[in-house]
Amino acid sequence: MIGVFDSGHGGLTILRALSARFPGHRYVFLGDHGHAPYGARDVEAIYGLTRDNVERLFSIGCRLVLLACNTASAVALRRLQQTWLPHFAPDNRILGVVVPTIEAVTQVPWHVTSPPGGPEPEARRVVVYATRRTVESGSYPFEIGLRAPAIGVTQQACPGLVDRIESGAPEAGIARMVTEFVTASLAGEREGAPPLVPDTAILGCTHYPLVAVHFAAALPPGVEILDQPGIVADSLGRYLARHREFDAPDPENPAPRFFTTGDPARVGPLASRFFGRTVEFERL
Ligand code: DGL
Repeated sequence: MIGVFDSGHGGLTILRALSARFPGHRYVFLGDHGHAPYGARDVEAIYGLTRDNVERLFSIGCRLVLLACNTASAVALRRLQQTWLPHFAPDNRILGVVVPTIEAVTQVPWHVTSPPGGPEPEARRVVVYATRRTVESGSYPFEIGLRAPAIGVTQQACPGLVDRIESGAPEAGIARMVTEFVTASLAGEREGAPPLVPDTAILGCTHYPLVAVHFAAALPPGVEILDQPGIVADSLGRYLARHREFDAPDPENPAPRFFTTGDPARVGPLASRFFGRTVEFERL
């Protein structure tokens, strides 16, 4: 069984990609709707909540857990892997969404932490939209800079956007909010400087693909929005092919199970809209 964890609905974007590409696996989704959003919480709180939820997924039989949440991946994953997992569950694994995204944008494998040799690569600009805590962690600019210094990274925190998505706020208000964040992200770094022209945008919060249409409308034409759910699914597929011990495909094609720390009756209808089919949550 593969556990897929997010603070709320956002991880459904990752689960949707996983179950479309690798339908035979047995997935268990856990949304911590009872504590969402995570993006403005302090680092210790995000670490503690993420650890408790991973533990819940381990306790129902998932040996591999994917943090389908950029905030938890950026803030808590390394610490969990290095200090908690070896004592608590040394045979289990926790993966995240930031590593595959950085590999995709830099085209450099994660274990390589300096730019590959060869001809000087073309300068590029990537803009990252994320929660406040992901932005403050500096993970995207730092890890991209190590591997591909020719890529300039602009970050834009989008406070309040996850709250709106989680509460099913009207689309028009969400569109306005996204436009404001995109406009702010493109303004020059100093007053009077020319606007920034990115070639690539990373929706570095798993909730944002749910409103990708508004990012696409607000970004200048020609900016490629990276498909983080697709990138993460491909990467997990390669991992599972190397590590069959964590979950082999089941020919019976089992349906995912959905758990929430919130109120199943409240989160189910919105999740069904986002997931594209009826989702019935069980309370955990
Ligand atoms: N969807 C999560 C992320 O990718 C968390 C958002 C939140 O809870 O603030 O960052």
